[in-house]
Amino acid sequence: MKNVTELPMNAKSAYKPVRKAVFPVAGMGTRFLPATKVMPKEMLPLVDRPLIQHAFEEAREAGIEEFIFVTGRSKEMLEEHFDYQPELEQALEARGKHDMLRKVRTSEMPEGKLYLTRQARALGLGHAIWCARKLVGNEPFAIMLPDDVVLSRRGCLSQMVEAYNETGGNLVAVMDVPRAETNKYGILDVEKDDGKIAVIKGLVEKPAPEEAPSTLSIIGRYILQPEIFEKLAAFEKGAGGEIQLTDAMAKLLGSQPFHGLRFEGRRYDCGSRLGFIEANIAFSMRDPEIGAQVQNIVRRFADELANSEEVPLEARR
Ligand code: UTP
Repeated sequence: MKNVTELPMNAKSAYKPVRKAVFPVAGMGTRFLPATKVMPKEMLPLVDRPLIQHAFEEAREAGIEEFIFVTGRSKEMLEEHFDYQPELEQALEARGKHDMLRKVRTSEMPEGKLYLTRQARALGLGHAIWCARKLVGNEPFAIMLPDDVVLSRRGCLSQMVEAYNETGGNLVAVMDVPRAETNKYGILDVEKDDGKIAVIKGLVEKPAPEEAPSTLSIIGRYILQPEIFEKLAAFEKGAGGEIQLTDAMAKLLGSQPFHGLRFEGRRYDCGSRLGFIEANIAFSMRDPEIGAQVQNIVRRFADELANSEEVPLEARR
């Protein structure tokens, strides 16, 4: 057997495990108005569960033990969703609706594991994450943007935790986007890429297509080291006048490893109407209860579009 001192420094021993996840949910959801005038965007349902629950379940599957919500005004519904609801449970029990009862129980937060902080002003994602600094403390943590949803056999964050246990440092989930759309995303400058893990040497928030260093984009899943909070504390404004998480990450480059993981699965931007509709179709087609019927509906629509004239666009307005 090799002498332990001869082995390369292993990430497992150099970096602490990821136990906490931050869920920034204080944004205004302007792309979804008027639906989000009163109701938080993260409560929009994807098939039968709100977006925030999809994110919670993905984090729980990845072994996350503490769930930190960065909320804001009119966002109480998000925390209440995870409460124990005795009257509802009793009513379902009494009516013998055991399947539904099971579903309700999976939306319960383990006791003492939900932590809340507030972002008084929606100054940007970087600022929202900074608001969680005391609750995260001095350890690595995950960030889950609930409006980014990944359809995959294995949860995206689980895949990331597995990769992080090898790479250590900072790790983001990445995917290729069309060059024409780089101005919507955080884009990576890549040093090395083996097709699954990319070594990152630069990061740019929403670059114009002609200036983008690549077409590899960050999606809403991160594992970061706590040193990010020192960079966020500068409160520097970036693209769109917002305090950007990507800019603070860029300042850590060089002092800590940064990797991108091409995850297995498909990501949907549920913060936009099109992405949300597409996600609902994709998820519901795979639903064990209604999937077959949804597939029939989709086929019927496809036939109708193939065989008839165009659907009038102004029908409801
Ligand atoms: P988005 O930019 O997608 O959310 O931020 P938004 O600003 O609410 O949406 P639009 O663009 O106006 O439609 C991604 C995540 O970060 C949170 C959002 O709630 C969302 O979950 N966020 C964003 C904050 O918590 N605070 C902010 O200041 C900005």
